[in-house]
Amino acid sequence: MAELEKLSATVAHLEQIIDDDELCDKLHEGLVADAQFRHRVEETLRRAHLRLQGTGRNSERLVTTGFDLVIAHIGCQLGIWTALVEQAPAAVEANALAAAVGMDGALLLRLLRFGATHEMVTQVDRTKFRASKGTERLASPRLKDALLVTVDMLAPLTLAFPAYLESIKHKEPDDPRNSAWTFSVGKGQDMFEYMAARPLHAEAFNRHMTFLQENTVPWLDIFPLEQYMNVDQTEGKRVEFCDVAGGNGHQALNVVRKYPTLEGRVVVQDRPDMTFTQHPGVEYVAFDLFKPNPTKGARVYYLRHILHDWPDEPCRNILIHCGR
Ligand SMILES: C[S@@+](CC[C@H](N)C(=O)[O-])C[C@H]1O[C@@H](n2cnc3c(N)ncnc32)[C@H](O)[C@@H]1O
Repeated sequence: MAELEKLSATVAHLEQIIDDDELCDKLHEGLVADAQFRHRVEETLRRAHLRLQGTGRNSERLVTTGFDLVIAHIGCQLGIWTALVEQAPAAVEANALAAAVGMDGALLLRLLRFGATHEMVTQVDRTKFRASKGTERLASPRLKDALLVTVDMLAPLTLAFPAYLESIKHKEPDDPRNSAWTFSVGKGQDMFEYMAARPLHAEAFNRHMTFLQENTVPWLDIFPLEQYMNVDQTEGKRVEFCDVAGGNGHQALNVVRKYPTLEGRVVVQDRPDMTFTQHPGVEYVAFDLFKPNPTKGARVYYLRHILHDWPDEPCRNILIHCGR
C-alpha cells in the first residue's frame, strides 16, 4: 500500500533523528523556542502512537501505565542512574552495578531491561548497560525531586480518585476541606499543611516548582512588566512586585535580575514552612493565603500556579485580598 510506504519513509526519518543525540538536542532547542510548533510535534507523535497502536496494544499500554514512573523512581532512590552516568561512556555489568547500589543482580537486570525499552538506559548486550541521554536526565537532582513528589503524593492521590468521587456521589468537588487530596493522602490536611510536617517532600516540591519554568519561554521575555512597575526611579519604599505564594521566590529573582535599576521592594510571600532558599534583593514575608494580604499597595501582585489549587470561592477571596 502506498500509504504504508510513505509511513515507512517517515519512520526512517524519525529513526535517523532519535539515533542522533546531537541532532535531538538541536531540534529540542528549536522546539523550546517555538511553543506552538513544539505542541504540534508532541501532539502529532502522541496521537500517532495511540491511533496506530490498535485496540489490543492500546489496552496493554493503559494497564501498564505507571510502571515506567516506578522504575525511574527506584533508579533515582538507589542511585542506579547516577552510578551508570559516572561510568559513562563505559558499559556496566548488571551484577557489578547491583553490588554497588545494594540490589539483587537478577532483579536489577530485569529493572534495567525494562528501563532500556523506555529510553532510560541503553542495553549493550544481555547483561551490560550504558548511560544514555535518558539516563542523564534521570540522574539529575531535579527529576529525583519530581519523582519523589509524584510517587509519594500525586500517584496515590490519583489512584484514590474513584473512591473519592464515590464518596461525594460523583458531584463536582467544591470543598477544599473535602478534596481528593484531603480524602486520600492528606487525611484531612491540605497538601501544603501535609508537607509542613515533611520537609524532605516540601523542599523537593519547591525545587520542582522552580524547575517547571525551565522548559518554557520565560514570561518576562514576552510580558512588558516594566509598563506596570516603576523600574528606574525610587518612590520611597513602595512594593513594586509581590509574588503571592511564590515558594522560594524564583520568579521574583528573575524580576530583580531583569530590572537591576528597580529600587522599590520585591516581595515573596508564602507559608513560613515553605521557603527554603532566600535570594538576595528579595524580601520574604510569611503570610496566609486565606487571610487579608499583609503587603498593601503593591504595583503588581503576581500569582503563578496558585489558583488552580483551589475551588472558585477561595480563589475569589485570594484575589480580593490582593487588591486591599
Ligand atoms: C503550586 S505552589 C506554587 C509556588 C510558586 N508560585 C511557583 O509558581 O513556583 C503553591 C504555593 O502556595 C503556597 N500556599 C499554599 N497554601 C498556602 C497558605 N495557606 N498560605 C500561604 N501560602 C500557601 C504553597 O506553600 C506553595 O508555595
